[in-house]
Amino acid sequence: MAVDEKKLEEFVGKVLADMGAAAIAPLNVIGDQLGLYKTLAGSEGLTSEELAAASGTFERYVREWAYAQTAAGYISYDSDTKKFSMSPEQALVFADENSPYYLNGGFFGVSACHIDHHLVREAFKSGEGVPWGSHDDCLFCGTAKFFKPGYLTNLTTSWIPSLEGVAEKLQAGAKVADVGCGHGLSTVIMAKEFPNSTFIGYDFHEESVEAARKEASDAGVENTHFEIADAKIFPGNDYDLVACFDCLHDMGDPVGVSKHIHQSLKPDGTWMLVEPLAGDKPEDNFHLLGQMLYSFSTMVCTPASLSQEVGLGLGAQAGEARLREVTGEGGFTRFRRTAETATNMVLEVRP
Ligand SMILES: C[S@@+](CC[C@H](N)C(=O)[O-])C[C@H]1O[C@@H](n2cnc3c(N)ncnc32)[C@H](O)[C@@H]1O
Repeated sequence: MAVDEKKLEEFVGKVLADMGAAAIAPLNVIGDQLGLYKTLAGSEGLTSEELAAASGTFERYVREWAYAQTAAGYISYDSDTKKFSMSPEQALVFADENSPYYLNGGFFGVSACHIDHHLVREAFKSGEGVPWGSHDDCLFCGTAKFFKPGYLTNLTTSWIPSLEGVAEKLQAGAKVADVGCGHGLSTVIMAKEFPNSTFIGYDFHEESVEAARKEASDAGVENTHFEIADAKIFPGNDYDLVACFDCLHDMGDPVGVSKHIHQSLKPDGTWMLVEPLAGDKPEDNFHLLGQMLYSFSTMVCTPASLSQEVGLGLGAQAGEARLREVTGEGGFTRFRRTAETATNMVLEVRP
C-alpha cells in the first residue's frame, strides 16, 4: 500500500509530542521537589542565576532545566532581560498544589513508571505481579498529588451530595471507612467538612498509612484515624458509608472486597465507589485519557492486582458494566452512576 505522506507526517508529529512529554517528566518532578516552580511563580521573573540562588541550586542545571521547560511552554522566557517567569495559568498547573488545575502529580507517577519499568518487564515474562509497595516513592506521593485537585474540587461539593441521603447522615454524625485510602487526602477532606462524623482510613501499605496520619495531624483534624488493613479484612460492621477512591481495580480480589464491604455496612449504608472514567469496551477508551490510564494500568494497577490473592487484574479501564458485575457478585443489588468528571466516575452501590 502507498504511504500517505500527510498521514505519516501527522503520525510522526504525534509520536514526537509523546516523546517530548515522556522526556520532560523527570524535570517536572525535580522542579516540584526543589521548589523551582514555586520560586518562579512567586517572582516577577528571574534569570537562571537568580532562580538558582533563590532555590539553593546550581545555575548550570537550572539554566538547562529552564530552557527545556520554556521549550515545552511550561514556563516563559524574555530574551531581552534573560528572565524566566510563569503566567498565572502556568502557575495554576505547576506551582499550586491546591489549585483545581494542578497537574504535576501525574509527572511523579510517570517518572515512577520509568524508574520501575524493569520490574514490570520481568513480570511480563514471569506472569507474577508487582506489589504496590515495591514501586519508587514517586508513585505514592505522585498518586496523592495527582488526585488531590479532583478531591478538593468535587468530593464534598458534588460527589457526596450526589449520593442519596449521605450528606445528611454525615452532617448529623456517621461512621465512615475510606478503604485503600493511600495518603489519606480524601479522608481528611471529608473529615474537615463533616466534623460530627468519624472517618477511618484503611490501607495495607504501611508507608502510606504513616503519611495519612501525618496529613491528618498537619491539618489538625481529630475525627479521623488510620489503620493498616487489607480491604478484605478491615474491622467493623456498622458503617454508614464506605468509600473507595481509585483503588478497587488495584486490589487482587475486588469481588472478595465487595463481599467484605457488603457485610461491613449498615443495612441502609452506601458504598461510594470512585473509579477511573472508562467506557465498557476497549475501543471506547482508545483516546488520550485511555493512552494515559491503560499505561498506568499496565505499569502499576494490573501488576499490583496480580501480586495479590486471587489476582483478578481488573484493570484501570474496567468500565461501569464490569464494575456493576463485580459489586453484584459481592452481594450488592443497587448500582447507579451519580457523578463524573473528566477522569473519574462516582458509583453509588447499595445492599
Ligand atoms: C491508586 S492508589 C489510591 C490511593 C487513595 N485512595 C487516593 O485516592 O489517593 C491505590 C491504593 O490502594 C491500596 N491497596 C491496594 N490493594 C489493597 C488491598 N488489598 N487492601 C488495602 N489497600 C490496598 C494501595 O496501597 C494504594 O494506597
